[in-house]
Amino acid sequence: MLLSITQYGDPILRVPCAPVEHVDLELNTLGVNMLETMYAAEGIGLAAPQVGLSIRMVVIDIPEDEEEGETSVIVVNGEQRPMRSIMPLVFINPELEPYGKQEFCTEGCLSVRGIRSQVMRPNRVRAKLTKLDGTVLEIDCGGLLARCLQHECDHLEGRLFTDRVSSAAKVTLAKRLKNLLHMQQD
Ligand code: NI
Repeated sequence: MLLSITQYGDPILRVPCAPVEHVDLELNTLGVNMLETMYAAEGIGLAAPQVGLSIRMVVIDIPEDEEEGETSVIVVNGEQRPMRSIMPLVFINPELEPYGKQEFCTEGCLSVRGIRSQVMRPNRVRAKLTKLDGTVLEIDCGGLLARCLQHECDHLEGRLFTDRVSSAAKVTLAKRLKNLLHMQQD
């Protein structure tokens, strides 16, 4: 089932999310629906507040053709594995530790339509992700997955990528965001 994606200006996107306490059938269905919604919108990640739920849950699916060489192999629970082997990811209560070199990369967001911007973030991440079946994945990765994990986990703290652009870019961005807000109110 397709869910509606909350858009910029909706207060739920600004609230830190509550941890998921237990996994039931309803949550499994939510995971399936979030993936379906993300695929339909041609995104690679979606966080629960983007479908109106203030809980710490995220789905990610990074397609093969978006991989860049060596970053397509990641470390999962101490073993090197192809990134695709853990996709799609549906997880709750993530713990993230970004590290490494700060890098610029262009980001967009399904909740901030039509706006893409350069965002600086560390280029690697160590993450502890709990899947809905209780399995814990300890991941060490770079590339697009590291970027996507940071972007999605920001959503769980009520943060958007637009908060992280450089102060110079913020001036232009502020105007575009204001327009976006007006468009949505019409
Ligand atoms: Ni987003």
